[in-house]
Parts: sequence; structure tokens; C-alpha cells
Amino acid sequence: MCGIVGYIGNKNTKEILLEGLKELEYRGYDSAGIAVLQNGTFSNYKAVGKLVNLEEKTKDFTTKDFAVGIGHTRWATHGKPTELNAHPHLGESSYVVHNGIIENYAELKKELTQKGVVFLSQTDTEVIVHQFEKNLKTPLEPFEAFAKTIGELQGAYAILLVTKSQPETIYFAKHGSPMIVGINAENEKYFASSDTPLIGQCSDVHYFEDGDYGYVTPKEIAIFDKSGIKKQPLFKKLSTNKLSAQKEGYRFFMEKEIYEQSVVLADTLMGRISDKEIRFDELPHDLFEGVQEIKLCACGTSYHAALTASYLFERHAKIKTSVEIASEFRYREPIMSKDTLFVVISQSGETADTLETLKMAKEAGLKTLVICNVDNSSMVRLADAAILTRAGIEKGVASTKAFATQVAVFWMLSLYVAGERKSLPKEEIERQITLLREVPATVKVDDATHEQLKRLSKRYLHGHGFFFIGRDVFYPLALEGALKLKEISYLHAEGYPSGEMKHGPIALADPELFTIALLPQHMLYEKAKSNVEELSARDSTICAVSAVAFDKADDFIPIGVCKDYMLEFFEMMVVLQLLALEISIRLGNDVDMPRNLAKSVTVE
Ligand code: M6R
Repeated sequence: MCGIVGYIGNKNTKEILLEGLKELEYRGYDSAGIAVLQNGTFSNYKAVGKLVNLEEKTKDFTTKDFAVGIGHTRWATHGKPTELNAHPHLGESSYVVHNGIIENYAELKKELTQKGVVFLSQTDTEVIVHQFEKNLKTPLEPFEAFAKTIGELQGAYAILLVTKSQPETIYFAKHGSPMIVGINAENEKYFASSDTPLIGQCSDVHYFEDGDYGYVTPKEIAIFDKSGIKKQPLFKKLSTNKLSAQKEGYRFFMEKEIYEQSVVLADTLMGRISDKEIRFDELPHDLFEGVQEIKLCACGTSYHAALTASYLFERHAKIKTSVEIASEFRYREPIMSKDTLFVVISQSGETADTLETLKMAKEAGLKTLVICNVDNSSMVRLADAAILTRAGIEKGVASTKAFATQVAVFWMLSLYVAGERKSLPKEEIERQITLLREVPATVKVDDATHEQLKRLSKRYLHGHGFFFIGRDVFYPLALEGALKLKEISYLHAEGYPSGEMKHGPIALADPELFTIALLPQHMLYEKAKSNVEELSARDSTICAVSAVAFDKADDFIPIGVCKDYMLEFFEMMVVLQLLALEISIRLGNDVDMPRNLAKSVTVE
């Protein structure tokens, strides 16, 4: 999704902007651009596609001494990914970059067009700069014109604007999209839409709140809240550990992240399990007091983790649990009762739909909890309580290690609540704690399995589709396996509960339909096996994943013999991730940045 950087200082502005944009690349984008104002003159460059194209275009452009600059990676929402639609957008003498969506852009554009303004792009963003310049002419001082403009916008935004009429200033506004300002000892000021571009450049950062707007100059950071009241920045130390993931010999970040799962899962468990109990010191002690229901809300892969959690909460904690897709929940006028704990799950903590449901729950007075991978993200700052998943930076757009850590957190949390409510015997909690300790070893990639999947992948490059099927928690895992494959191979894949086949989907069965069957030894094995046999009888090509040999399978991927279905879950998860990876590599796709997808979906 779109990314923003900004800089005021004396260093090489062009390099700083391009380096910052590189740190945001993993979020997904289709074009990029920068605008630099130096000695009263603007330089603006834009390019479609990867940042190397922008680097190539700017190779003869140099900046030295004082300058202000803004940069942007765009993920198209309004208008195609073209150079004209790429940010920054120009008015007569100002440039703007924007993340989010201006919902009333059509009305504003109509009024501006009637006044003779000519628009160059199809974007919603361009209205911001023209509206600002219209207000500037009324006449207003630049900051007054900017404040007036912000008041006229509806929707979600993080905005940076630079103008010749105040050449040492960057104007900013934030509402519904993240934005940070950073400082350092050299009196430079940096902006970014997430921490990553600022690590190594800034010592301290301030996270803007929704409704904040203002300006930054070499001497001042002026922040106003939505009522126009000036407020002091609240600086926090920024981590110095860049953790800037390098591929370390792996072909893709996704592959590296699959292999890292063992280490990050050990981190996720660290300090949270003892022999007898689960501890979440970060949770208020009364979080589950009076809670009669848990509602889980998320998108995409995080939704699949939530669905898995719903089985565990009901099974272990004996607490009624429902799961919602955030984009649906937002608009269906849901009934929210105060004895519900509202839990959002998000790798990024910035997904617009999920964030909005969290706001809704807070407004309705529910207790809220976020399971998130990014500290200081919007959701972490908003929720009453947070559990960090500790997966480290995930660069591959297709989520892998984040999912693994989400499920591990949920497994622990279900036992934590079971302990509080005494809904499971102590011995059972202790047994499951020993199993949890085995998870990091269970997800270590087995070389032979990876080799087998590399070879096998060539048989699965055609056909008219894939069914991923499983029962119980293996149903959300099947959904996740199908999503992984879709995202990076662009092949059609669906996840189903195994028992649903005969209610319709089995009509598609033929040799060109590939069924990836999850057959855990310790969860409804016989029932799941009969469902697969029904597909096999109708000539679907079957690829079974199991610890138990299965003679009806055309291909068989063995997993190790495990003590429990949850360990089988984690082993099968790795198999499905590797299968998607190898098929995608064979098809020659960009595994880490698949077409049309963004890492962090900050628009609805
Ligand atoms: O950052 P979030 O976990 O809130 O993101 C939700 C989805 O956009 C995300 O899981 C998406 O489905 C991934 N591309 C899955 O690989």
C-alpha cells in the first residue's frame, strides 16, 4: 500500500527520500515519485513500476545543502498506475503526497474545474493541492490555507505538502492513515508513514494522532489537534535495531521467513510459558473478568488465524467465540454487547478495515485487545491491551511467520483463559504447555520435504483449480493454504471444510481439479479420509498431507508423527507455505511482491 517519506535538512535529500522509499517497498506499490524544493526551485521525478526505475530517472539529479523533499510509493486506488497518477501531485507552485482516500474528491474536483483548474491525473489526491492553492489565493497565509483545506477534506489521509510560498516548511495532516515525524541531533526532520525508514536516521519520533495537522520547519514542529489547539510533540525513543531483513542467501524473503518460523516462534513463547501456566504480563489482570463472549475481527491471513482461534477458545476456555471479516463487520450494524471482549488481529496494525472495527468497539464501550506484530502501530496504540506476536519484520507480501506467531499466541491465550476460568484440568493445561514447547522444532523446515515439494510443484502448474480441504482447525489452515497459493501463483484455489464437498463443490471434481487434502492423524482422521475418498472416486487429483500413508492419493507429502493435532497443524502449515512458494517460483512470479497486492492495506 502507499508509503510516504519527507525530509528537511542539509544532507543529500534525493538519496534520503529514495532510501526511505526503499524501506517501504515491501508494502507493495506500482509507481513512485519525489519532489524536492531547493533554492526556490522544484525538481520532480516520477516512475511507474519498481523503485529502480525512479533511481534511473533521477541518476543525474543531485541535491546538496538545504532542501525540503517529499516522496511517495503509490498503490493505485483512483486511476491506473501511470506516471501522471503517481505522487507527488503538482498545483501551480506546490506539491502534495497522500495516503488514504479523499471521499469527497469528486465534489471538490467539480467545483475546482468550474473555476478553471485543470487536473492532470485521475487521482483523488490532486484535489488537495488545488484546493490548497485556491485557499492561498483568497488570500490566506500558507498555514491558514492548509488548515482550511484539511477542514474541507472528508475521508482518510496522511498528507505532506510543500509550497514555494513557504519554502522551508513541510505541512502535514493525519486522519486514519499513519504518519510519524522524527528528529535527530543534527536538527534534521524526517517524516514517514511507518517507523522503518526512520530507523538509523532519527533518534526520537512522535506519532501523530487522528485529526492532527501542522507544519515543520528547521526550527519548529507545530502540531494542532482537530479543534485547532496547539499541542506539544510527545517524542519516544526510536529503536536503533534496523532488523532490515536481508535475504541471507534465500531466493525470496518469503522463503527466508518460512525458514525463520522456528526462531520467531521461540521468541513468541519466550517468557510466556512456564511448566504449569501461561503468563501474559502485558495484559491487565481483569481483562477477562465479566467477559461472556469473545469476538475476533480481522482480514486475510489474520482472519484465518482468528478462525483457528475460535476453535481453541471454545474448546479450551469454554467461552462463546465468533469471528468476523472486518470489512463486513463495519457496515452490517452489528450488535455489540458490553460483556464481549473485542479482539482484532493484524500483522501490520494498520489495516484500515480492522482498525475501523476497533474504533467501533471502543465507541460501543467494549473491552478491546489487539494481537499484532508491530509495536506502536495504530491498533496497538488504540486498543485497551495488546499482545505482540514478535515475528520480526515480515517483508514478503504473502504472510507466513506472522500467521504462525498469531496462531501460537492464540493457542497460549486460550490456555491462559482456560487457567483463569478453570475450564480445563490443570494436567491438560500442563500437557499442552509441553506441546507448545515443541512448536519451534516442529516448524523447522525438513530438507527432504522441501526437496520433494520443489519436484512436486511441476505437476501443479496447470489444471482448472485447487481445493484445499480440512476439518476443525485444519479448515482455516486449508483457507490459508489456498490464499497463499492464490496470492503468489495467481492460480485459482479455494479452501473448504472437507465435509462440505458433497454439498456442491464436488461437482467440479475431475483429473484437472487438484485437491490438497489435510489428513491429521489426531483430528477426525477417518471422517476427513472419507471425504477425500469421495473426491478420489470422482477422479480429482489428490495430494494428501498426512503422517499416515494414504493409498488413494496421487501424491503424498508425509509429515512427522506428532503427539497432537496442533503440532500437526504447524507442520502442515509449513508444507502449504512451501508448496505455494515452489509453484510460484516455477511460474516465474515475483514471490515477494505479487501483482495487485500490498503488504499493508491502509484503505478500505
Ligand atoms: O496486516 P494485517 O494482518 O491486518 O493484514 C491483513 C491482510 O491484508 C493480510 O493478511 C493479507 O491477506 C496477506 N497478504 C496474506 O498473505
